[in-house]
Amino acid sequence: MNRADKILKNKKFRAYLNRTAEHEKNRIYCLHDIRHAMDTARIAYIKSLEERSDLSKEIIYAAALIHDIGRCMQYEDRTPHEKASAILGRGILEECGFTETETETILTAVLEHRTDKERSPLGKLLFEADNLSRMCMLCGARATCKWKKEDMNMEVSY
Ligand SMILES: [Fe+2]
Ligand SMILES: [Fe+2]
Repeated sequence: MNRADKILKNKKFRAYLNRTAEHEKNRIYCLHDIRHAMDTARIAYIKSLEERSDLSKEIIYAAALIHDIGRCMQYEDRTPHEKASAILGRGILEECGFTETETETILTAVLEHRTDKERSPLGKLLFEADNLSRMCMLCGARATCKWKKEDMNMEVSY
């Protein structure tokens, strides 16, 4: 089994996703579910191919899969979810066989996905893919969304 698939099947990962889903069951804005994680992974990987990055597919998928896993904690105790995802993600990555170096690369990118500071190569990829994954052009909640209008994905861009 590849390690990204191990994440998908990991008990803790599933439990955190379920907790987030419970908090988001009446949410009208973007969800932080497995679809969003997979969309982010695929877009990040496509971008890495275009940019000829030397990051491995498994590391890119791992970062995308866990980048919002802490969203449940944000709902429960207001921990910013990039921090919560790094805290909860560490245990998942350990259980799925990622090395310490790989884990640090992934968690750094996760922490960087909501900052404006300079990002690592994986953090930059994750940040861009995360934003591109959102279907603003089809969203009925756009009028009250806190995203800046100029940041919304309103056209097919490639
Ligand atoms: Fe996020
Ligand atoms: Fe996200």
